[in-house]
Order: sequence, then C-alpha cells, then structure tokens
Amino acid sequence: MVRQPTKDDRFSFGLWTVGWTGVDPFGAASRPALDPWEYSDKLAELGAWGITFHDNDVFPFDADDATRSRIIRQLKDAVDKAGLVIEMVTTNTFTHPVFKDGGLTSNDRGVRRFGLRKVLRNVDLAAEMGASTFVMWGGREGTEYDSSKDLHAAMSRYKEGLDTVAAYIKSQGYDLRIGLEPKPNEPRGDIFLPTLGHALALIAELEHGDIVGLNPETGHEQMANLNYTHALAQALHCGKLFHIDLNGQSGLKYDQDLVFGHGNLLSAFFTVDLIENGFPASPDAPRYDGPRHFDYKPSRTEHMEGVWASARANMATYLMLAEKAKAFRADERVQEALRYSGVYELAEPTLAEGESIADFLAADDGFDPEQAGQRDFGFVQLHQLALEHLIG
Ligand code: GCO
Ligand code: MN
Ligand code: MN
Repeated sequence: MVRQPTKDDRFSFGLWTVGWTGVDPFGAASRPALDPWEYSDKLAELGAWGITFHDNDVFPFDADDATRSRIIRQLKDAVDKAGLVIEMVTTNTFTHPVFKDGGLTSNDRGVRRFGLRKVLRNVDLAAEMGASTFVMWGGREGTEYDSSKDLHAAMSRYKEGLDTVAAYIKSQGYDLRIGLEPKPNEPRGDIFLPTLGHALALIAELEHGDIVGLNPETGHEQMANLNYTHALAQALHCGKLFHIDLNGQSGLKYDQDLVFGHGNLLSAFFTVDLIENGFPASPDAPRYDGPRHFDYKPSRTEHMEGVWASARANMATYLMLAEKAKAFRADERVQEALRYSGVYELAEPTLAEGESIADFLAADDGFDPEQAGQRDFGFVQLHQLALEHLIG
C-alpha cells in the first residue's frame, strides 16, 4: 500500500487537468464542468499541496474588470480555505480565434500587441496570487505551412515578447520566474521551440534570460521521440529547470496527457530517480526542488469518480516510484553494478588538474585500446536491477 500524499510532497495540479470536461476535436463534453473554486477542497483532501491555472480557466476571456476581480477573489478564498497554494499561473493565448496564428508571433501586429498585453496583465495576477513560476506554453506559436511566415522575424518577435515579459517582471520587482514549455506540435503543425534544446537556444539570446528557464513536460519530449529524463538533466545542468509538467505518453502520437507512469513506465522510474536522488556521481550538481506538478487529462471515458481516482493515481504512482528509486540506489548490488559500469568514473575530468593541452598531447598513458575495447560495461545487468526493483 502506498502512503497518503502530504503537503510536504508538494504535488500540484492545473485547474485545466481535473477540470477538463472531455471536449476533443471529435466529441462533446463527457462530464460536467465545476466552478473553478470547487476543485480545491477535493484536491486538498486527496493530499495535493497546490494548484495552477490559466487566466481563462478561472474567468471568461471577455470578463469585465468587476467580474474578473469577483471570480479571482472567490477562487483565492477557496484555495486559502483549503490550505493550498497557487504555485504557478499561465496565460491562455490559444483558445480564442484571435490567437489562431499565435499570440507573440502572429503575422498580425495588432494581435501581437493584444496578446502581449494579456500576458502582462496575467503576470500581475500571478504575482498577486503569490505564484513563483509563470509558464509560457506557446501552443499557437507556429505554422502549418512553411510559406506562411518569415521564420527569422518569427524568432525575433518571440524573443521580443519574452524579453518584454521578463523586463516587466523585473521592473515590477515581482519574485517570479518564467518557465518556457516546449512542445513539437499540436495544436499547430509545427510549434516554435519544439524541444527543450530549441528553447534553451532562444533563452541564451535573451537580454533578460536570467529569469527565463524551462517547464519541460514528459509527453512533449516523448512526442518528439526524445528522452524526458535527459531533458530534465540538461535543464538542471544549465540551471534552467524552473518547473515540471509530469504526465504519461505512449510513443509517437497525439499529446495523450495520460496519468504519470501510465505511458512509458521505465522512463517515469528514471525521471523520479533523478528528481528524488539526483545524479549518482555528481553530488554537488543542481537538484530540482520545485513542485511536482501534474499536467494530465483524466481520460474522457471517466466520470467524476474517475477524475478524482486519476488525480490520486498521479500522486500514488509518483510516491511508489520514489520509494522504489530510493531502494534501487540503496541496494548494495546496485552500487556494485554502478561501479562496475564506470558510472562514477564519468565524474572525473578527462584532463588532469592543471594539465595543459601540450602536456596532454605529449603524455603517454600506457593505454591499450585493444584491451579497453574488451571492457564489459555491464549496463544490461545494471538496468535489469532497476527492473527488479520496479516490478520484481
Ligand atoms: C499541452 C500543454 C498545456 C500547457 C498549459 C500551461 O497539453 O499541450 O501541456 O497544457 O502545459 O497550457 O501553459
Ligand atoms: Mn501536454
Ligand atoms: Mn503542460
């Protein structure tokens, strides 16, 4: 039996996850929509610590100021009463038809000015709600047709938009960091910043890139046939892992947003192993200590009982994997296998301390490539031990 999650586990859920009514391109809603303030009690009861939302998960796109404030107050009161936090806020720049060609990279300058104002206004809201991360997922920033955009200008406008948001956060003195969320496609045919690496490259060009990092999502990397754990590792390596979206995905298809672990389970195991245990040979490397945020969709086949069961499943799966990952690392056979595999050797710099390139070139290591070519790394046995811990 897996233990009940507590606030110390810092599990959080988007309002749009448990709040998804099952509307998809082929079908109408398969369950009712609750009001935004009706989710907090149940999430708190299940053991969650926080919630996150898009502006328009809470108030309508065309809400007047009075309506907007009233609804926000109602949500905040419910969240406070439930003892939850609002750890992240994000902007919907994808649902309304005005954003059909993007919010920051639309060819239409009027749309870009409108979209950027919507984002900035939502930055104020994020700060007011006490959020620490402001996610920017550019789902509509992209194309279906390569003829439709000057791609150089598109990158320039993306950069301009991100720098404007980051500069605004700094000018207001908000304690807020931006998390870019890469995704290869859907809803656009090709989304800009399709992978974590693309996003890092644009961040490196920003003037205010110091407060811009990443919010990688499991399924989004896997939709591009990439390795999510490697993505987290590289983001950590450059100090840019600001937030995470955990969920499940089974191979190359549409964005499934399954429960965490309900897609590639082995990959989920190593994701949790990295988050909970850090890098095996690099104890001083950066660690992720932010929220364990789930961005999933309760399958359309489930009704309300199934929504709550699936929310619980995310947390239970994470906790089970965390327990197994701890046992994996603590197992003396695993430690021996890690040593046999040379995992600890990789942390030793290739050049000696103070060794010049000239000295290095001149040095005779007495190295025998024929003999080294016969080394057995034992990676299969090491991996089998992981499997043993996972399913044995
Ligand atoms: C998706 C995305 C979105 C974003 C969300 C927050 O399913 O493609 O994950 O859910 O995470 O819009 O910006
Ligand atoms: Mn997704
Ligand atoms: Mn997401």
